[in-house]
Amino acid sequence: MRLELRGITKRFGTFTANHQIDLTVEPGQIHCLLGENGAGKSTLMNVIFGLLQPDEGEILIDGVPTRFANSGEAVRRGIGMVHQHFMLVPVFSVTENVVLGFEPTKSFDRLDHQRAREEIRSVSQAYNLEVDPDAIVEELPVGLQQRVEILKALSHDAELLILDEPTAVLTPQEIDALMAIMRSLADSGKSILFISHKLKEVKAISDVITVIRQGEVVGSAQATDSEAQLASMMVGRDVTLTVDKAVVAPGEEVLAITDLVVRDDRGLPAVNGVSLSVRAGEIVALAGVQGNGQTELVEAIAGMRPVESGTITVRGVDITNHTPRQVLDAGVAHVPEDRQLHGLVLSMSVADNLVLNTPRRAPFARRGSRNLAAVAANAEQLVKRFDIRTTSTQALVSSLSGGNQQKVIVARELSRPLSLFVASQPTRGLDVGSIEYVHRQIVSQRDEGIGVLIVSSELDEVLALGDRIAVMHAGQISGVVDPSTSRETIGLLMTGAHVESTNA
Ligand SMILES: Nc1ncnc2c1ncn2[C@@H]1O[C@H](COP(=O)(O)OP(=O)(O)OP(=O)(O)O)[C@@H](O)[C@H]1O
Ligand SMILES: [Mg+2]
Repeated sequence: MRLELRGITKRFGTFTANHQIDLTVEPGQIHCLLGENGAGKSTLMNVIFGLLQPDEGEILIDGVPTRFANSGEAVRRGIGMVHQHFMLVPVFSVTENVVLGFEPTKSFDRLDHQRAREEIRSVSQAYNLEVDPDAIVEELPVGLQQRVEILKALSHDAELLILDEPTAVLTPQEIDALMAIMRSLADSGKSILFISHKLKEVKAISDVITVIRQGEVVGSAQATDSEAQLASMMVGRDVTLTVDKAVVAPGEEVLAITDLVVRDDRGLPAVNGVSLSVRAGEIVALAGVQGNGQTELVEAIAGMRPVESGTITVRGVDITNHTPRQVLDAGVAHVPEDRQLHGLVLSMSVADNLVLNTPRRAPFARRGSRNLAAVAANAEQLVKRFDIRTTSTQALVSSLSGGNQQKVIVARELSRPLSLFVASQPTRGLDVGSIEYVHRQIVSQRDEGIGVLIVSSELDEVLALGDRIAVMHAGQISGVVDPSTSRETIGLLMTGAHVESTNA
């Protein structure tokens, strides 16, 4: 399919999210859209997919001007989309999710279900997207859920596939697998529009790169351009891709975890005897392939998951099995892995989300009544400091772009008086400029004497931030090393291998 956009403009009220966008995707092409958080990428994809109507401009498909009243029409015309945030129904099976909204007949009976399953089998075989059609989606690891999204997008004979940050939640291995799938789809003549903030994979996979900034196309880049070139083109200034970090002598112990055992949702021990310590003025980065207990460990610290045995103390105070509120009161800030589920209240404003944990406390409330002026002032200040792109601090947080929603959480959690900062994937979905800023903030918190525990599946981030690196495998710490350790060694520890000299 050949897709051509001519002069697409999309406004939300007085705000222009897309301005006069021209873009062409040729058959068999992997076309990457690069741009900072809030640049207008998802908006443009939603316009193509019929979820939003453009205010101006034309969409041509194979030369024919086309307008979709809704996404169903786009699907019937051969467009498939994988959204930035999962759109699956967690309690449904893979098959039910794939056919959702497109049931083969009016009354979706057993026979149709059988037919749908077979179609899913054949599509998954054709594209090497192995997944059990009868599995319940919420029981699948995120990598497989992403695969279901792609299956769903492909199973209606899509000729153009829109992938809006499909790799944000994937492990490096899953990303490699997805890249291979994308390449084979393109080779079979399908067109792909791809969005990612990870410049390495953008360089590895793209045939064409279009850069947009503040809703406008600012030019195209080459896959052979350096990461620094791509970064400065999208952000409009030079970006430091490494973190400046002075050597700091760590102080007293802030977090002490001893012999911790925590079970996962299925009742299996996900954390199986972990002991770990974080000191004041120290960043401990927890590396590991996703699904090795990191999530459960952090949830246990945050009071979101019961501890079976072992202890967690913060500055000597036992917080084992305390409620999230009590953990918060112990001076622990937490950036959760799933921003929409645990980090934000989507139906509330940006300003309210920025005081989510402390709405009833001074200075945001006095004698039980809210001090709205203080809430507003706090929001204005944080929006500026963290460069959160929003039309207003009173806008619903759900209207923000994915990366800007993440910035709201990080801004809120970094702006309280703290002993310990615990963050899962703190820069997931952020553009390179915002990553640079958040990394600096984390380092400056450390310099002020806060203990920091970062969980990241990005080895680059682990190496950039960690003063010590703990590697987790199969529910245990397979090694604690210093950041000068080679990637190979860390990679080995991630597979559970025992490596010499883990003496940091
Ligand atoms: N429904 C809406 N109402 C008001 N503003 C909106 C709405 N949807 C998007 N916006 C605004 O449009 C801008 C572009 O958002 P969009 O989601 O397209 O960004 P993006 O390039 O996908 O960013 P990210 O990389 O963070 O996902 C944002 O500043 C956002 O606040
Ligand atoms: Mg987006």
